[in-house]
Amino acid sequence: MRSPFLLAACALADISTTWAQDVSEALLEVPWKTNNAKVNHLVIALTPAEKISLVHHTLWPGSQNLAGYIKPIQRLGIPALQMTDGEAGVNGVLNATAIPSQLNIAATFSRELAYIAGAVAGSEARLLNASILLAPRVNILRDPFEGSFWQGYSEDPYFNGQLGAQAVRGIQDQGTMANSKQTGPSSTGASAGDTNSKVDLQVLHEVYWAPHQPLIDAGVATMMCSYAQINGVPACQHDELLNLTIRGDYNFTGAMMSDWTAAHSTAPSIMAGLDWEMGSDAYYSEPLYDQIYVQRNLSESYLNRAVHRILSMYDRFGILDGNGAEENSTALLLASKDLPQETVKTGQDASYDIAVRSGVLLKNEGTLPLGKHLSVAVLGATGLQLTNGAGFAERAFGFQNRKVAPVDALKQAFKDLKVSSAVGVDMHGTLVPRSALRTVDGKHGLIRNDSMERTHFDSTLNFQGKNSLPADVSYTWTGELIAPMDGYYRLALQRRFPSPGGPINSTDYSVFSHDYFSVDEKTVDGYRILGDGGTRPWSSPLPTTDFWDEAGTDVYLTAGTHNLSVAATSMFGEPLEIRFHWVTPEQRQKNIKDAVKRASAVDVPIVFAHADSPAQVGMQLIEGFDELIQRVAEANPKTVVVLHNADPVLMPWLDKVSAVLWMGHPGQEGGAAIADLLLGEHNPQGKLPVTYPASVNSSMTRNPDYPNRVDGQNDTAVFSEGINTSYRWYLSTNTSVLFPFGFGLSYTTFDYSDFNVIETTDSTFDVSFTLKNTGSAPGGEVPQLYIGPPSGAAQKYPGVQFAVSSLAGFDSVELSRGAARRVTFPISKRQLSFWRQVDRSWVLAEGTREVWIGTNAQSVMLKGTIEI
Ligand SMILES: *[C@@H]1O[C@H](CO)[C@@H](O)[C@H](O)[C@H]1NC(C)=O
Ligand SMILES: *[C@@H]1O[C@H](CO)[C@@H](O)[C@H](O)[C@H]1NC(C)=O
Ligand SMILES: *[C@@H]1O[C@H](CO)[C@@H](O)[C@H](O)[C@H]1NC(C)=O
Ligand SMILES: *[C@@H]1O[C@H](CO)[C@@H](O)[C@H](O)[C@H]1NC(C)=O
Ligand SMILES: *[C@@H]1O[C@H](CO)[C@@H](O)[C@H](O)[C@H]1NC(C)=O
Ligand SMILES: *[C@@H]1O[C@H](CO)[C@@H](O)[C@H](O)[C@H]1NC(C)=O
Ligand SMILES: *[C@@H]1O[C@H](CO)[C@@H](O)[C@H](O)[C@H]1NC(C)=O
Ligand SMILES: *[C@@H]1O[C@H](CO)[C@@H](O)[C@H](O)[C@H]1NC(C)=O
Ligand SMILES: *[C@@H]1O[C@H](CO)[C@@H](O)[C@H](O)[C@H]1NC(C)=O
Ligand SMILES: *[C@@H]1O[C@H](CO)[C@@H](O)[C@H](O)[C@H]1NC(C)=O
Ligand SMILES: *[C@@H]1O[C@H](CO)[C@@H](O)[C@H](O)[C@H]1NC(C)=O
Repeated sequence: MRSPFLLAACALADISTTWAQDVSEALLEVPWKTNNAKVNHLVIALTPAEKISLVHHTLWPGSQNLAGYIKPIQRLGIPALQMTDGEAGVNGVLNATAIPSQLNIAATFSRELAYIAGAVAGSEARLLNASILLAPRVNILRDPFEGSFWQGYSEDPYFNGQLGAQAVRGIQDQGTMANSKQTGPSSTGASAGDTNSKVDLQVLHEVYWAPHQPLIDAGVATMMCSYAQINGVPACQHDELLNLTIRGDYNFTGAMMSDWTAAHSTAPSIMAGLDWEMGSDAYYSEPLYDQIYVQRNLSESYLNRAVHRILSMYDRFGILDGNGAEENSTALLLASKDLPQETVKTGQDASYDIAVRSGVLLKNEGTLPLGKHLSVAVLGATGLQLTNGAGFAERAFGFQNRKVAPVDALKQAFKDLKVSSAVGVDMHGTLVPRSALRTVDGKHGLIRNDSMERTHFDSTLNFQGKNSLPADVSYTWTGELIAPMDGYYRLALQRRFPSPGGPINSTDYSVFSHDYFSVDEKTVDGYRILGDGGTRPWSSPLPTTDFWDEAGTDVYLTAGTHNLSVAATSMFGEPLEIRFHWVTPEQRQKNIKDAVKRASAVDVPIVFAHADSPAQVGMQLIEGFDELIQRVAEANPKTVVVLHNADPVLMPWLDKVSAVLWMGHPGQEGGAAIADLLLGEHNPQGKLPVTYPASVNSSMTRNPDYPNRVDGQNDTAVFSEGINTSYRWYLSTNTSVLFPFGFGLSYTTFDYSDFNVIETTDSTFDVSFTLKNTGSAPGGEVPQLYIGPPSGAAQKYPGVQFAVSSLAGFDSVELSRGAARRVTFPISKRQLSFWRQVDRSWVLAEGTREVWIGTNAQSVMLKGTIEI
């Protein structure tokens, strides 16, 4: 990570190179009034200081609960406004519905469910007085090491725009503002911070910016620009993006905010059209005031325009008429108890529907669905406890009473099923014993120092109940960890929050983490305590079984001593309850052995495996799971694997197992959904929204032949794949994959027939075919329409890029046994056009193009051509 100081220096360098032509424009009087007389008058009535306070982030007075807060101006009846993250439910309060992750929503390939997910989060946000739900994300998921796949939809621009537009409608129909995020590009690799994305304009327009346009057409109220620099210019001051494209071409009339701390300048940002500096107030506070009102070298009209855009959205959503947030965020947090029962019930039903329709069956040699009189063994930590989702806890916690572990859900679903279990790979472990700790003086234990300058000796790190440590103090422990043998150790710092739903003290504010421990050079950050406020026990993907929060990792240690330090701060005015656990290599082997023994004694072993986001090792499950699956499969060929991962993982054991079901992060109803899919109560009909590469080296971004596609060393990502990103790259380079984009099996079978293409009007087409459920179960299928490049394009359009294949239509079609339906996908002129930068226009490409219906990016069921 770069320091804020370096970031600022960097931004200044960028500005100086582009500044010359902007100086005169800085004094231009830009138009800002509209035909909204009420808002025109408000802008005029506001004082300079009041206007400034409306265009940047402020910490809550007293405490910080949700992601963002804008001050009220009581004098003019402008209430406070809150923003919350919300791709997987409303973040920041204890009792809000944990809908499945956005990646799960994508896996349903259902526009309807994207709408419903939006409506659930939108209605809860409104009840909790968050006026803006910071969702959906329509970023292109480019790099499988990146870590935020769970918060996005897919690797395809058309798909993201389609689902995103429905999410916007769902959220905004409930009276909450949505946010189209994060334009740039973003999530594209090396992107922790301000990666410079080197990418050409045709590709930006067609792949990375295009997904936002359908959301703007759907009326999205706010947008967010990303951390990325685009060819050296920060996205949040990029005129081609913010002004010419988003405002000019897409007609966006809402408010543009920066991602948290992604603003890097004052004048260039507000001139390009950034209305809100969020997550910081470095540029839109005093510096903005100074340039407009003291130096007088920046026109006030830019500020008026930003304030007008912001207040116009307040007005559109009734916030100026008393529909805003309360000043008192404590009241808001406590009020989260009070979501009406019907809202809670609606959320449950929607979460279940999304979860059950998002399961992707990746392999099945007939073991699934499970017979109802079998004996099964549930193996793996996420089988025994339902996962909360990814560790970067921008998501809802979900109602605790709904969070049934898969093992219990299986028992509840079928009484005749014989269900046993073993942990296999234990995440929580046992207390690190005194004999494994040593102080510099050679005593068994650790030295504890605290912020009151006291020093103690502790024989173990274990404080709870009566033995907990005093409140409002920071503690550090130092000493050595003695590893009895070479091997992987799971180390886990665990902490209890006595009143998880309670109010938060702003002095405890920390976005990313609080506690940490380090072993030798490796540091493991603790919990994401206050991401959007009170993310407490649920900041862990898997809290301990006694519901403590946990920050853990797997490290390889050689036998002998290793430096250890642990730091923790008591918070919320509560005593500190904390302990340090481990799982030794010996215990790990014993756990696997026990699981293998269980597996041999049952008809079907079901291994639940998961990965962190980002994964500890890119594209890999958590340490131990590959070995567990391998050994269980050797003991019992009927092995079924259930996967909880977001960024793709490799599956070195795939040939040995009988079935694989991907469940992603399925939310609070995930246990029931998993059981119903395994038992065939529901047909698995999800499809992969991202390609699974066959290996790291054959992946698009981590391929040693293209070291600069993600160049973490230089914080640069060169998009040399051009328009052929993601599944298109694997096709265009004939690179084999583990599973293609759009892939997913079913318990039933489908037949595709009677393909027909007609030109409806000038250069607009309808592609239709008949889809029939020919199998023995009701189920859904996701037919996909792809278009090839025009013939002779290289001669006719030199220098223009055309994708080898582009998704142009899809639908999730439900068919009962034996039923058939005619499906029609329209192709618009825009889908047959390319972006021409010279005159900034979309040009219809002439020529013959292949069009085909597939069940994934690499299959062709029906095929034809169109002539333009
Ligand atoms: C934007 O607005 C202009 C003028 O009203 C109109 O001509 C154009 O078609 C609009 N573009 C989009 C993408 O809606
Ligand atoms: C924004 O775009 C318009 C054209 O749509 C142009 O006239 C104007 O100069 C641009 N503003 C800035 C600050 O570049
Ligand atoms: C206005 O002047 C200040 C002080 O010299 C400078 O930092 C700032 O960049 C100038 N702003 C514009 C828009 O020229
Ligand atoms: C905020 O609300 C809580 C709960 O209703 C109340 O106890 C507290 O006094 C309020 N604080 C302020 C500053 O109004
Ligand atoms: C939400 O805001 C409204 C209007 O300001 C207020 O009446 C209500 O109490 C607030 N609800 C919560 C949960 O803060
Ligand atoms: C959350 O809801 C449960 C009931 O589902 C209730 O028992 C609990 O008190 C609520 N907690 C908070 C912090 O609102
Ligand atoms: C702990 O405190 C003692 C006594 O003040 C001091 O000698 C020692 O360096 C401190 N250790 C750490 C790690 O701060
Ligand atoms: C917040 O924390 C500070 C420092 O620990 C403490 O002095 C203050 O009393 C706390 N405030 C509340 C409301 O708990
Ligand atoms: C452990 O700490 C000691 C004293 O600070 C230091 O000299 C040594 O290099 C450290 N060892 C490792 C492996 O980090
Ligand atoms: C991947 O590529 C790197 C760099 O060329 C090479 O060192 C490594 O052995 C390759 N890994 C595999 C599994 O082939
Ligand atoms: C980073 O930049 C340096 C200097 O330009 C270059 O030598 C190095 O190869 C780059 N790293 C990668 C991974 O391309």
